[in-house]
Amino acid sequence: MRTKTVLGIVGLASGAMLAVVLLLASGGSTGEYHSGQALLCYDCHTIHFSMQHGWDSNNPVQTTPPTSGNTGNWLGTTGPNVHLLKMPANELCLACHNAQAIAPDVLADNANAMPQNGRSAGALNDATVGAPYDIWKGHTLSSTADPPGYDPAKVGAPVNWYNASNGLECTSCHAQHGPASAYRNLGPYALGASASSARPLYGFNVGTPPTVCRNTTNTPCDVWINLASYTAGSGVAATFNPFYATANIFYLRNDVTVGQVTTSNRMGTFCGTCHGNFHGGLGNANIGGTPLNAGGTGFLRHPTSGITIGGTGAGGQSLLSGAGYAPGITKVKVFTNDYTNFTNSSPGCITCHKSHGNQNPFGLIFLGQNATAVTEEGGYNAGQTQDLPTGLRNLCGQCHTQGN
Ligand code: HEC
Ligand code: HEC
Ligand code: HEC
Ligand code: HEC
Ligand code: HEC
Ligand code: HEC
Repeated sequence: MRTKTVLGIVGLASGAMLAVVLLLASGGSTGEYHSGQALLCYDCHTIHFSMQHGWDSNNPVQTTPPTSGNTGNWLGTTGPNVHLLKMPANELCLACHNAQAIAPDVLADNANAMPQNGRSAGALNDATVGAPYDIWKGHTLSSTADPPGYDPAKVGAPVNWYNASNGLECTSCHAQHGPASAYRNLGPYALGASASSARPLYGFNVGTPPTVCRNTTNTPCDVWINLASYTAGSGVAATFNPFYATANIFYLRNDVTVGQVTTSNRMGTFCGTCHGNFHGGLGNANIGGTPLNAGGTGFLRHPTSGITIGGTGAGGQSLLSGAGYAPGITKVKVFTNDYTNFTNSSPGCITCHKSHGNQNPFGLIFLGQNATAVTEEGGYNAGQTQDLPTGLRNLCGQCHTQGN
């Protein structure tokens, strides 16, 4: 479908546009979406903000994105907009990513069939959607609040890169043009070249973590998608769901120092660009921690990288075996390279929070170790009272036996 449409444009195009269009036509079906060869300018941009008819001569052009196929054959009604966008930025993304069958639904409830164990990122909220996706349950689109713990220097990013007065946008977190090597096109666009340490790399493999990252010669990979391969743009949830399913997404551990803090995965650095004070590992000034059982001081904030569950280095406050993390049937996600025994696993932001949010306060994941079903909110063990205190204890009880 797309190839046919694109060839239609060629007839109208100038030389410069022809080059771009042919690029798209030659590789439109490979790679993931909004990056590399699968970046269709007309999904999002309009040259004059004026179209008497569509690419196919349909008159008038439709004012919402096509609900089948994906051809850029539409124009919004609010504009002209900065950067020649078809709609104002967040509305533009939501035109396809809220309650549409062609792409993952990321705002509040999921109008499409649910992927296994829920959407990996969960759900965003905004000032209008309300319960059960209240604004205190994760990221709020257009919020002008400063990010809690904002200190980008912690991860070596420019101090004033995020301008809260513009409101939180999809493009605050996703680079709308890729690069193709970035997991979910992540990495704040406004960071420019200095975003590379905050752009998680990913790869595909069935059963065990990938050794080769997608669309790059850089290593190591941060995210493992447990699929053989993927072609974006099917337009059908049943086909695209496995690529976005919590059940298929895993995170790897590779400790390095970025800026002033230890990071185990570029996902942590990514969150740290806005929440730097909350990110780091053993001994970082904002996190603290010298081994308790060696007369140390304990932590100041919960470590979010570079710390081993059940490890002896920091006092053994968490447990891996016995009543600890490893034997759990249903597990919160951790950074590890050993998805069999979970040795050398570190907690990270995505252990406790859904990246977009969910129906719990702070977008927390309340998952018991023997949950009867796993959703975006977590899940309770058989016989448990399904309330907030039980949910919170379940989360901590994944790794800690204190008080349980
Ligand atoms: C998924 C939607 C989307 C697609 C597809 C897309 N863009 Fe953009 N583009 C944006 C958004 C959003 C901005 C504004 C970013 C900002 O707020 O700074 C932008 C900004 C731009 C800018 C302004 C300079 C800059 O980089 O900020 C140019 C030029 C541009 N895009 C060209 C293109 C071209 C050429 C293509 C196709 C090869 C394309 N875009 C495809 C969403 C898109
Ligand atoms: C015209 C419709 C359309 C618009 C507008 C649109 N998207 Fe998409 N988006 C899609 C489709 C289709 C997919 C691929 C779904 C699939 O996997 O088959 C996608 C995929 C994505 C992905 C997953 C990419 C990956 O490889 O993991 C992200 C992230 C994303 N979009 C963000 C955005 C952002 C941010 C904007 C606004 C700047 C935006 N989209 C605007 C249709 C759209
Ligand atoms: C571009 C900046 C930015 C990035 C990157 C970012 N956040 Fe945020 N975050 C914010 C802002 C702004 C707020 C406050 C407004 C709101 O709640 O949306 C916030 C709020 C939060 C909250 C509190 C939500 C609530 O309802 O009280 C949590 C939890 C959170 N972020 C976790 C994360 C995690 C985890 C990551 C990485 C996956 C991350 N953030 C990445 C900007 C960011
Ligand atoms: C605060 C940062 C942040 C904001 C704002 C944000 N995203 Fe995301 N998004 C993420 C992260 C991080 C992931 C990957 C989470 C993971 O590993 O599961 C993600 C994943 C996704 C996915 C893949 C689906 C999934 O469940 O994993 C899509 C599509 C997407 N985002 C689109 C959008 C769109 C469209 C907007 C605006 C309407 C938006 N995002 C706003 C951080 C953000
Ligand atoms: C061990 C679980 C856990 C981990 C790991 C974790 N968080 Fe949290 N987060 C929480 C809890 C619980 C709260 C509620 C407030 C509190 O207890 O301080 C919270 C609250 C927040 C808030 C809201 C703060 C406010 O002022 O309202 C933000 C933002 C946040 N977390 C971001 C992050 C980021 C970014 C990371 C990774 C660098 C992270 N969290 C890692 C459990 C966790
Ligand atoms: C995925 C595993 C995991 C989860 C879930 C988790 N933690 Fe931790 N926690 C750790 C690790 C690892 C440490 C580092 C200390 C150690 O193990 O010796 C730690 C350290 C701590 C410490 C500091 C101990 C000290 O020495 O000062 C406290 C307190 C704590 N966690 C509380 C919580 C609470 C409360 C929750 C639930 C919101 C929680 N943790 C969830 C793994 C986890």
